[in-house]
Amino acid sequence: MSDKTIENLMNEAREYDPPQEMLEQANLTAEKYEQACRDAELDPEGFWAERARKLLDWKRDFSTTLESDSEKHEYKWFGGGRLNASENCLDRHLKNGRRNKAALIWQGEPEEDVRVFTYHMLHRKVCRFANVLKKMGVSKGDRVAIYLPMVPELAISMLACARIGAVHSVIFAGFSAVSLQNRIIDCDAKILIAADGVLRGGKKILLKRNVDEALFECPSVEQVIMVKRTGDEIDFIEGRDTWWHEELSASDIEDFCKPESMRSDDPLFILHTSGSTGKAKGIEHTTGGYMTIVAHTAKWVFDLKDDDVHWCTADIGWITGHSYSVYGPLALGATTLLFEGVPTYPRPDRYWEIINRYGVNIFYTTPTAIRALMREGSQWTEKYDLSTLRILGSVGEPINPEVWVWFYEHVGKGKLPVLDTWWQTETGGILISPLPYVGKLKPGSTGKPLPGIKTKIVNNDGSNASTNEGGHLLITEPWPGMLSSIHKDRARYNRTYFERFPGSYETGDGARIDEEGFHWIMGRLDDVINVSGHRLGTTEIESALIAHPDVTEAAVVGIPHEIKGQTVYAYVTLRSGLDQDEEMRMALRDWVGKKIGPIAIPETIQFSEGLPKTRSGKIVRRILRRIAAGEDDLGDTATLSDASVINDLIEGQKILFE
Ligand code: PRX
Repeated sequence: MSDKTIENLMNEAREYDPPQEMLEQANLTAEKYEQACRDAELDPEGFWAERARKLLDWKRDFSTTLESDSEKHEYKWFGGGRLNASENCLDRHLKNGRRNKAALIWQGEPEEDVRVFTYHMLHRKVCRFANVLKKMGVSKGDRVAIYLPMVPELAISMLACARIGAVHSVIFAGFSAVSLQNRIIDCDAKILIAADGVLRGGKKILLKRNVDEALFECPSVEQVIMVKRTGDEIDFIEGRDTWWHEELSASDIEDFCKPESMRSDDPLFILHTSGSTGKAKGIEHTTGGYMTIVAHTAKWVFDLKDDDVHWCTADIGWITGHSYSVYGPLALGATTLLFEGVPTYPRPDRYWEIINRYGVNIFYTTPTAIRALMREGSQWTEKYDLSTLRILGSVGEPINPEVWVWFYEHVGKGKLPVLDTWWQTETGGILISPLPYVGKLKPGSTGKPLPGIKTKIVNNDGSNASTNEGGHLLITEPWPGMLSSIHKDRARYNRTYFERFPGSYETGDGARIDEEGFHWIMGRLDDVINVSGHRLGTTEIESALIAHPDVTEAAVVGIPHEIKGQTVYAYVTLRSGLDQDEEMRMALRDWVGKKIGPIAIPETIQFSEGLPKTRSGKIVRRILRRIAAGEDDLGDTATLSDASVINDLIEGQKILFE
């Protein structure tokens, strides 16, 4: 740990001096960066068109770069263009000398479980699986749900869907049966690809039961393709369930599958994320725009090179894994590493051991993981030669400056750039980030917007915030890779992102910009909390709690947590006469785990007889948040219909923590 105060760290910029040879071979040198900024300023469309043409193979060139209708919030990128994402990630590398290069290295949780796929091998698997999907009647535009842990079949399934123009919808394997069901119903998936179970932290977690429970009411799903991972005995539903390995090796499955020619604005995938209402939003991404932003940022932010092993530790069930474990690195023909396990099992050196074993060059992870590993001590990092590392990245939540410094000093040995990258499920790829070999780094800041990305910070009334003043972070110009819609809910798309601040995209984040243009993300401004970098809607958790027969009212807020960034704190009112005891807390925690998934389980449940409300009956979360965090100043309480509940809540909290 550094002995500097946090305040000093916050204000300190690190002049990172990369070795000369790095500077010379950088994909984006300082000089090229200046040029890119000028180009993007003068002719943004020309800038993006050039990037799209340079980085991707188009079956048919596009005729327009951007067609916008700002009234309808429609932004169509690369109109007239045709391409296929899987072809860009695979086929072109068979012809350019990368055929026998490792495309994907998979490290299972047990040390001996390793699988390596060259580009040729991955191409073959993807083609064969695409043919399996076709045989099952999946065609262009159909939705395929994927509920798989971190196994190679997950990436193969996504690429196979992309190959035939089916739209994949990956559902994080940590989600419960109910969450799985909601997401499948929302996208009307025709096929579900799932696994018998997952190995995590030394335990087996069975998934098939969740599948069967979820499919109880999912009429759209015709077939389930099961990947064997744990090998446990599972119930098979005749006529519906089949084995992946049997389907893939069937004699009528051919080795090649012709990639569909997709329009640039054809959907590539749907990925659900939490919003400020109970229902998750199905974020839709299109083919051309999304592939452009991920290839572009992998090239410039991660400076990806042919010899690199790129390791993004995020689960593919979230956007980070989509963009920087699968599509970004493979589009550039790099080697991507997937890891099934957790950072601390069997020992807290697992990440460092993997970096050492595979010679990882780019390591992209989350503040939560770094905090957890930092707590274990730097002796674990010192055990290994980590000298292949070239770039360190962080994403998903604010990284505290002292954690940034630990990462920089103990993993980067004081020599490597730490890139705190800001983006969202909706943005498709990184939009605000330092660049590895350009300019300085400030611990705790996400740097400046990338060339071509324009931001501003505004007050509640839409007026511009001053330098260093916190406000709403907006993106003021369209970019390739922006979401095209919320599946089946255009009105929500308009409302959430475009209506409050006309002409801009509203991120939902609070931020400030300092005098040098560096961005400092302050957290969500809506009812979304960020637990270990995972987005959860407070209303989603409240709805789950309220659905419990013993609960009459519930309010959920996020509070700061040393490792996870934030945790869930729930205020619950029970039906009268019920015991407010530990047993009830356990039952409710278990219930939320089943309704949403383990990540949403409240760390704290405080029983309360009432909640602070306005006279119109709206729960005042601001106050609940402050009480939960133990703050003395609760702000303005004059608008409450009954201020006496506040004392009860404070007293209740004292008893809870006694
Ligand atoms: O609040 C911001 C936070 O994560 C949110 C997006 O979450 P999600 O769509 O799940 O995507 C996460 C990975 C891209 C943002 O609105 N966030 C993301 N990156 C950062 C961040 N907060 C602070 N610093 C970051 N670098």
